[in-house]
Amino acid sequence: MSGFTHAPVLAEMTIEALAVRPGGRYVDGTVGGGGHAEMILKSSEPDGWLGGCDQDGEALKATSTRLASFGNRWDIRRGAFETLMDWIPPGSVDGVLLDLGVSSPQLDHPERGFSFINNGPLDMRMDDRQELTAAELVNTMPEEDLADLIWQMGGEKKSRRIARAIVIERDKCLLESTTQLSGVIEQVVPRRGARIHPATRTFMALRIAVNDEVGALRRGLPIMVDLLRPGGKLVTITFHGVEVRIIKEFGDAAAKCDTPSLRWFQRKSLKAKAEELKSNPRARSAQLRVMEKI
Ligand SMILES: C[S@@+](CC[C@H](N)C(=O)[O-])C[C@H]1O[C@@H](n2cnc3c(N)ncnc32)[C@H](O)[C@@H]1O
Repeated sequence: MSGFTHAPVLAEMTIEALAVRPGGRYVDGTVGGGGHAEMILKSSEPDGWLGGCDQDGEALKATSTRLASFGNRWDIRRGAFETLMDWIPPGSVDGVLLDLGVSSPQLDHPERGFSFINNGPLDMRMDDRQELTAAELVNTMPEEDLADLIWQMGGEKKSRRIARAIVIERDKCLLESTTQLSGVIEQVVPRRGARIHPATRTFMALRIAVNDEVGALRRGLPIMVDLLRPGGKLVTITFHGVEVRIIKEFGDAAAKCDTPSLRWFQRKSLKAKAEELKSNPRARSAQLRVMEKI
C-alpha cells in the first residue's frame, strides 16, 4: 500500500474549538493519518498530552511515525473510540475530537474496497480484524433490507431498483469486487451527466453499515462526554446527515434534561472557508460542532 496521508479538515477551527493550550490533555478518537493529532501536539507545546485511537491498523502505523518527534507526549492505541474509557480516566481531559467517517487513504487505496472507480475486493472494513465485509452484506442481505439500507444511509432515491439489480446479479454469480458492484449499479442508474457517480450513495450506505458507524457514534458520544472534565469541549466533525442528526439529538437531550451534563457551545455548524475548499474539496461537506461539559 502506498503512503497514508490525509489533509485534516477545518484544522484551525478545530484547534480553536478545543481551546488547545500548553499543558492541556486531549483525546482524538479518530486519529486517522494524524493531521489533527499533530496540530494538537504542536499547539499544546511544550507539555500538552494527547491520547487517541483509530480502528484502522494501517492508519496507526503511519501516524506513529508522524508523531514520533513528540516523544512521550502521546499515547495512541488501536481500537474503536467507544473503548477509550478502558484506559483514559473519566473526567481527565480538556478536549475530545471526533472527526468522523473515512480517511482519504481508505477511500483512495483500491485494496481497501471503498472505491467504486478503482477495482478492489468488496471489503470496506476500517478494522481488518472484523469479520463482516461489504461482500458479505451485498451477497446475503434480503433485497428489501438492502434497499432500505441504501435509501436510509445513502439517501439514494433509486434504492429499490439498485437492490433488485444486485439480487438478480448475485443469483448468477457472487459479487466480489468493487467495480463489479458499481457496474451493476451503472446498468440501472446510468450516469447521464450526473454530478456524482451513480454508485456513490450505495457505496456510502454499505460502508456505514459494514463499520456500524451509526451504532458506534450513538454508543460513543456519552463515553466521550464522560472523559471530559467540567468545562472541557467535545468537538465533532461530520460529513453525513445521519451523523448530524445523532449529534444534535444527543446534544439537545443532554442539555435539556433535569441535570444537564453539557451545553451547546456551537450548535450551528461551522464550515470550511473558500480557501480551504480550493486545496481540499473533501472539506465541502464537513460540519464542525462543539459541546461543553458542565
Ligand atoms: C476522517 S478520518 C480522521 C482523519 C484525522 N482527523 C486526520 O487528521 O488524519 C476518520 C478516521 O476515523 C476512524 N474511525 C471511524 N470510526 C471509528 C470508530 N468508531 N473508532 C475508531 N476509529 C474510527 C477511521 O478509521 C478513520 O481513520
